[in-house]
Amino acid sequence: MAVAASVRRTPLIAGNWKMNLDHLQAIAFVQKVAWSLKDAGHDFAAVEVAVFPPYTDLRSVQTLVSADKLPLAFGAQDLSAHDSGAYTGEISGAFLAQLECRYVIIGHSERRNLHAETDEQVAQKVTAALKHSLTPVICVGETAEDLEKHGQSAVPVGQLRAALAGVTSAADIVVAYEPVWAIGSGQAATPEQAEQVAAQLRATIADVLGEDVAAKTRILYGGSVKAANIASFMREPNVDGALVGGASLDVTEFASIVRYQKHVGA
Ligand code: 13P
Repeated sequence: MAVAASVRRTPLIAGNWKMNLDHLQAIAFVQKVAWSLKDAGHDFAAVEVAVFPPYTDLRSVQTLVSADKLPLAFGAQDLSAHDSGAYTGEISGAFLAQLECRYVIIGHSERRNLHAETDEQVAQKVTAALKHSLTPVICVGETAEDLEKHGQSAVPVGQLRAALAGVTSAADIVVAYEPVWAIGSGQAATPEQAEQVAAQLRATIADVLGEDVAAKTRILYGGSVKAANIASFMREPNVDGALVGGASLDVTEFASIVRYQKHVGA
């Protein structure tokens, strides 16, 4: 489609650690990733790198990144829709902003499935993130059952439309298409499948927020991404990066994913 064909978007490779690595392990891991990428001469302006550690690691990661001026972005895996108050166990976007988080993942399928997060809650969290100048990484994706019943695009497109309900301005957002059946299964979508849904998601952004926002919004693919398949996804015109789970916990593998442009045949 015409939208965005000519706009250059900086690719983003993001590691969602999920509930892995405590704050001490996080310090060692982030140091190793940064050193390994610097040693390899990685151009961080050409391919952005972000990590999403558990909440309890964020202060340590922030301190390290800031003290050593590491060219890595970081963010949280969720946030509260509220700013403060009687919400036991929740974390406000204001707190995340104080820790210099640039991003926050919202609506991951594990939150939707294991914590019964609804489209409405996802939309409220997106609004909360933007209010605190955090860039939401809005996750959408169909289950195997959805795929059979509704095809590939209908559910992710519906989830995205709902998530954008409270977004009015030329917001800075990232969208992650993560088919639930591909997460942690070792069975990634094909690059063609990812491209098809990414194109539909971009058309949805154009419809809701306008062509300019659609053209600059990065759409990531997630679900069993590894060094061996990343280059094939990145060749697709509407796929602007990856949200990586399991493979983001291995320094060599994650660094190799980030360096996909150097892969043979990439
Ligand atoms: P895997 O890369 O382990 O399949 O996880 C993907 C994911 O859920 C990232 O948010």
